[in-house]
Amino acid sequence: MFSVVVIISGGGSNLRALLTAAASPLYPAKVVAVGSDKAASGLEHAEEFGVPTFVVEPSRFESREAWAEVLLSNIEFHKPDLVVLAGFMKVLPANIVNKLTPRMINLHPSLLPDFPGAHAVADALAAGASVTGATIHIVDEGVDTGRILTQASMAVTPGISEIDLHDQIKLMEREQLVQVVQDIATGVLLLAEKEQSA
Ligand code: GAR
Repeated sequence: MFSVVVIISGGGSNLRALLTAAASPLYPAKVVAVGSDKAASGLEHAEEFGVPTFVVEPSRFESREAWAEVLLSNIEFHKPDLVVLAGFMKVLPANIVNKLTPRMINLHPSLLPDFPGAHAVADALAAGASVTGATIHIVDEGVDTGRILTQASMAVTPGISEIDLHDQIKLMEREQLVQVVQDIATGVLLLAEKEQSA
């Protein structure tokens, strides 16, 4: 079975959507572990579904690279076919990205390349965007710069709050995530460039 490790930092609504989909015997992927950089509330979803968790906090390490090495060993222990960053709010250093790319994808709440970074929804509102959306992309060494796999867009309701807009975006993201993982697991969506041209 195609196996997925999900890494989170927050509430984990996208994680929960994937765990729920993967609970069906018809779904072609399984979440084998969930990791975080902190005691995130979303880890409770994993516990509810009987999926093992791990937490690797950056503050316990002398450098980002040392932290990333331990995060990588925790991920690799579960031998995943795919790593999903679902609301993971740290930028990963090159030593982990180079090991996992292109088999590591990230969810981002904007239509990249617009509004990369940690405040995408607020930045879209501040810029007066009338349309925004959600992107799933391969993680590379940049901040939200990797190859885009899928995007979904939506109109921004005038005067909407950041929280409400983000909630609307997350509704789209959950469907996107479940579909993208299914497509990667079944080979409909190819991650490596050489797979693409083969
Ligand atoms: C999602 O909207 C995801 O795109 C965003 O965090 C949210 C996590 O929601 N990620 C980023 O902003 C990464 N830069 P969730 O914890 O409810 O799944």
